[in-house]
Amino acid sequence: MGSVAGIFRRKSVEQIQAEHEHGELKRSLGPLNLVLLGIGCIIGTGIFVLTGRAAAEFSGPAITISFVITGLLCAFVALCYAELASALPVSGSAYSYTYASMGEVVAWVMGLLLLLEYGLAASTVAVGWSGYLVSLLGDNLHIHIPAALTAAPGVAVKDAHGVVIAHGVMNLPAILALIAVSSLLVVGVSESATVNNIVVFIKLTVVIAFIGIGSQYVNPKLWHPFIPPQIPAPPAGTPNDLWHQLGRALWAVLTGDSHARYGVQGVIQGAARIFFAYLGFEAVSTAGAESRNPSKDMPIGIIGSLVICTILYILTSGVLVGIVPYASLDNPAPIATAVNQIGLPWFAIAVKIGAIAGLSSVMLVLLYGQTRIFYTMSRDGLLPASLARVHARFKTPWINTIIVGVVACGAAGFLSLDALSDLSNVGSLAAFAMVCATVMYLRYARPEMKRPFRTPLFPLVPILGVLMCLLLLLSIMANHDTRNFFLIYLVVGIALYFAYGMRHSKLRQGVVVEGHEAEPMELPHVGD
Ligand code: ALA
Repeated sequence: MGSVAGIFRRKSVEQIQAEHEHGELKRSLGPLNLVLLGIGCIIGTGIFVLTGRAAAEFSGPAITISFVITGLLCAFVALCYAELASALPVSGSAYSYTYASMGEVVAWVMGLLLLLEYGLAASTVAVGWSGYLVSLLGDNLHIHIPAALTAAPGVAVKDAHGVVIAHGVMNLPAILALIAVSSLLVVGVSESATVNNIVVFIKLTVVIAFIGIGSQYVNPKLWHPFIPPQIPAPPAGTPNDLWHQLGRALWAVLTGDSHARYGVQGVIQGAARIFFAYLGFEAVSTAGAESRNPSKDMPIGIIGSLVICTILYILTSGVLVGIVPYASLDNPAPIATAVNQIGLPWFAIAVKIGAIAGLSSVMLVLLYGQTRIFYTMSRDGLLPASLARVHARFKTPWINTIIVGVVACGAAGFLSLDALSDLSNVGSLAAFAMVCATVMYLRYARPEMKRPFRTPLFPLVPILGVLMCLLLLLSIMANHDTRNFFLIYLVVGIALYFAYGMRHSKLRQGVVVEGHEAEPMELPHVGD
């Protein structure tokens, strides 16, 4: 055990780089595979479900602008991730970057944030999956699951006309989906690059077909007013041009008073809510160790997948609010609502099956990512060794996977989609801000470090990244339940570091753990 100063002890950048040189993982992924890996993880519940709620509750037809704002933020963050991923091609992603730069306690906090991001994101996607399954079974195959078993306790279940038909007891389909995915991970079925490519092809076909066919059914009148008036309306006589609205919106976010819907403030709130739709571009960086030429291909994979999804999201959301009045989109399967309205039954069934297949693979990748982070933290001694124990036959970290699966099932079955996506967004926004800060820190602390890709317009890009992340973070934390949960979670998590992580850290005990090249297990990995 070392002194408190030791909590900032770092793994050396050179050792991390050497791990890549001598790593055991097969380096099979080229630039196209990496772009497809990113798209495979990005397109999911965000666009298929959360877009509807964000349009109905916050942005109105200006949901398209919300997607532009968040896309821009993610571009800044993606450039920062690209710099770190090309310089430090390791599989622990943001956790490893902070361990190598800002030290152990910061890496621990990053681990806490990633647990919210990946763990709860898998539950969020499971709830979206459940919404599309229930819609396919009920609307198209006339098989009805009892409504109370399709939503978390207290959540109102509505029919296609928005009428409340029951209140939820638990979300059974979401729990079953996560049990299935966790079981696959325990027996070692991780997604191969080929399966990922097929699923991405299905998802892209569904989204592009929706844009192509849906655009012919758009009623431009539904786009007006593009930004619906703010509710509650500002006091009479208040200047209400765009700049004043923007100023008031920023002020409201900074003072924690951003509850309004619609207006510019609503558009910013909407941007924070659909942030979830972009999560996943950074997952490309977790494949650093498996990339053929990380210095060139990582930036292409991260930025390429983000740009493609941003364009598709703006078009999809524009078509969606042009087919269905935005106010009726707050339901578990809004794209399904739009295709039902178009009235082409074959198309409706195809879209729903495509969504179900696509969301299954996102759940798999997210849960897998979470187990990989726990595995790395456990190997570093920060978490109990059992989380890195490998099953003799399946060669997977089975205890770790079962624990992650049980927690994800509990969250998916008993928390509302809004709570899940908000908490996942908060964790990810804080993690992304830390990644941007890490880039700045390393530029000043280690200017000589080899950086095959350099974030352009430094330091503007990472500074804007941090500021935009904080803006959206504050806007979500205007919900005091979310804010309180997040703060208590961080305090308890950091206390656990001092109670456990700090005492067991292998780095602090002088045990050489950097040699991941001597990893005694074969974790399945993307690209197998
Ligand atoms: N971006 C992913 C989704 O929308 C996590 O489901």
